[in-house]
Amino acid sequence: MSTIAPLTVELAERAYSIHFSDSLSALKNDVAALREAGRSVRVLSDAKVLAAQPDVLAQAGFEDSEILSLPAGEKTKSVEFFSQALSFLAFQSANRDCALFAFGGGVIGDLAGYVAASYLRGIDFYQIPTTLLSMVDSSVGGKTGINLPEGKNLVGAFWQPKAVYLETRLLETLPPREFAAGMAEVIKYGMLFDLDFFKELEQVKPLSASSPQLAAIVRRCCAIKSEIVADDEKETAATGGRALLNLGHTFAHAIENVAGYGQYLHGEAVAIGLNLATQLSVELGQIDASDIARANALIEKYALPTSLKAALPISDLMAAMQRDKKNRNGRLRFISMQNLGHAVTTDEIDVAQVEALWKKVGAI
Ligand SMILES: NC(=O)c1ccc[n+]([C@@H]2O[C@H](COP(=O)([O-])OP(=O)(O)OC[C@H]3O[C@@H](n4cnc5c(N)ncnc54)[C@H](O)[C@@H]3O)[C@@H](O)[C@H]2O)c1
Repeated sequence: MSTIAPLTVELAERAYSIHFSDSLSALKNDVAALREAGRSVRVLSDAKVLAAQPDVLAQAGFEDSEILSLPAGEKTKSVEFFSQALSFLAFQSANRDCALFAFGGGVIGDLAGYVAASYLRGIDFYQIPTTLLSMVDSSVGGKTGINLPEGKNLVGAFWQPKAVYLETRLLETLPPREFAAGMAEVIKYGMLFDLDFFKELEQVKPLSASSPQLAAIVRRCCAIKSEIVADDEKETAATGGRALLNLGHTFAHAIENVAGYGQYLHGEAVAIGLNLATQLSVELGQIDASDIARANALIEKYALPTSLKAALPISDLMAAMQRDKKNRNGRLRFISMQNLGHAVTTDEIDVAQVEALWKKVGAI
């Protein structure tokens, strides 16, 4: 397999590398270098990942006593497990020199990042993502956090990793439904930033963990995200910027919220959201109606939904959208496409227009 060069996320003194080829050797070397410098290392992971990939951490030089295994699933991104992880570090007298590694999907990455941002006012953090979603999205960009019973990702911090070790071979044990959900985020990058990339995804056979092109495709997604994050790290741009990465997500978060977490994987809700964002862009007269079929064909290539699995009340979906973090001055804020492959932030949307869109995907 050809070598894939590391990528640098350009954030001045917080710049870091994302390793692709031979990344587990890079991890092993970095762990050894930390130890040689007299520093300690700890790992947060989840029980399913550790069972599916039992050798990775030992081969990288971690000892069992350095690993905290938490339950798999979204519920682990909570105050309870945040507290447990902090106690794990404190009980073992980890000091400021400790480096914390996340070995898992977005749940473990988000939690571990927030633990690293908080413990002793901040310790070094490294990511070893194990799901497609975490490889192309959550491990890059420094958003960390946990959920509250009142809502998702309500507490957190921007805390950039020192390095990301990305090994697509680890995806061979990922359940196919989780792989497909990650593909929704991959497709999103083509739609929001890169028409050529979108066309490439249209042309390739359905990707799987063993596809030879996968590592290069994952790298392309990380490059797009890095470029956007480097320009607007904390999502403060008045228009465009990091918010563009949320194409389809205003709809997706509302679906997840109203259906109840667990009904849809995040990527499945994003797939429906991408269909809605495409329809919205057509309504706004920005893209061609034929782009709807094009976008949906790509989404359906991965057996992802473009409509709701069961009807949800439009009033509840609208109420959930009103609570979206991206809204500004009480107005709903959407990401639409000016052209396929070029997203923009859009504030001037009529509520009735959004309600009509929900009907098209089976809401009542
Ligand atoms: N920080 C960000 O920028 C950002 C961006 C997008 C999503 N997120 C967050 O990411 C989370 C979702 O992440 P996710 O989809 O990776 O879910 P996840 O971490 O729950 O992982 C999904 C499931 O796959 C299992 N798994 C992971 N890797 C595996 C492997 N290699 N083999 C076998 N099983 C494996 C896990 O144990 C889990 O059961 C959400 O909480 C979301 O809010 C964060």
